Amino acid sequence: MTLDTADLLDRRIAGRSLEAPFYTSREVFDLDLAAVWARNWIFVAAEGELPEPGDYVTTAIGPWSIIVVRDDDENVKALHNVCRHRGARILTEDRGSVGNLVCGYHKWTYRTDGSLLHAPAQGGGFDPACFGLKSVHARSVGGLVFVCLAEDPPPDFPEVASRIEPYLLPHRLAGAKVAARVDLVEDCNWKLTMENNRECYHCDGHPELVRSFFPTYGYREDQVPPTLRPAYERYRRVEAEQRETYERLGLPHELIEELDTRPSAFRIEREPLDLAGESFTTDGKAACRRLLADFPTARLGHLSLHWQPNAWFHVLGDHAVTFSVVPIAEDRTLVRTTWLVHPDAEEGVDYDLGTLTKVWTATNEQDAELVSRAQRGITSPAYAPGPYAPSEYQVDAFCTWYLARLREHVGR
Ligand code: FES
Ligand SMILES: [Fe+2]
Repeated sequence: MTLDTADLLDRRIAGRSLEAPFYTSREVFDLDLAAVWARNWIFVAAEGELPEPGDYVTTAIGPWSIIVVRDDDENVKALHNVCRHRGARILTEDRGSVGNLVCGYHKWTYRTDGSLLHAPAQGGGFDPACFGLKSVHARSVGGLVFVCLAEDPPPDFPEVASRIEPYLLPHRLAGAKVAARVDLVEDCNWKLTMENNRECYHCDGHPELVRSFFPTYGYREDQVPPTLRPAYERYRRVEAEQRETYERLGLPHELIEELDTRPSAFRIEREPLDLAGESFTTDGKAACRRLLADFPTARLGHLSLHWQPNAWFHVLGDHAVTFSVVPIAEDRTLVRTTWLVHPDAEEGVDYDLGTLTKVWTATNEQDAELVSRAQRGITSPAYAPGPYAPSEYQVDAFCTWYLARLREHVGR
């Protein structure tokens, strides 16, 4: 039986979770690839993952494989990982460094900008200029590399990038060093990974993380439950103090939240952290002594950026963490986490890797358990969409945005 997608879209009730096929059906998964992943801007890597010419990362999105590489002119390029001879995948590793891109099949050799340098033993009349690797739209936004597979990417991206960049640039992410990188495969649909990230209703499940977050994290003022009122007052006091710091240092901090009104949907905000207010550590103190951008204080709280469809970021005084989500199958999703520090920060001297990565490693593992539990439950015929709490409004916005992309694609 084929799924009636139009019906499924029409039946959505705002404020409720999506129906099961959105998370379990192969057909919807294929539709997601076409309507969401092939059409929108996707975060794939931090520039710090490609510090030198020839450094690359590859990302598989459904049937596509994309190479993001720093070319010999130091530009970040994105290329389809498909040889122009007979189509072989050129690079098979997740990341590495190359002089040129050499196809392992018949040794066609491409420059790092994708142009064909050499095709052995081709006949006369062969024009290498016609066989460069196909390029993919790519753009770095304050040191974060986004790609778009569409021929005509959503036209609102440059405007969004120009609004996000002033928040990011002071942190000098483009030159930051990768301290750690972890790939985690979650047993769930990619939307459950994203939805789970868009609420802190479940944050009781994150004992390490909640220490650094104020207990009111994720609530709008009018949603704060009475029991959390004292914590909210404390948050407001620290927020006022932090705002002074942000203004003194020229760091934009106002909330911008456009999660269901545009294709390149995002939310950005700079917020204080609880405890020492410096970092995601169990006491809130900086995990890296060498601050990320040489600020005069480590007490900057966190700059948080939510990106749809596939990423979130936390930028702190001492380090930054990027998270990218990539679908593998309808019930499997890759979450890539990367920790960035000052380029001169030395492991064992300025930071201890275990301390730096502890909170988010634990949090990611806890989340992986929660989302696989959700996937298993939703797979039961007994599952029916349930109501979101007010603090889950970003989940609702994510689903509304997602369904708008599907509707656009199927013309409903
Ligand atoms: S398929 Fe790449 S060189 Fe032949
Ligand atoms: Fe979580």
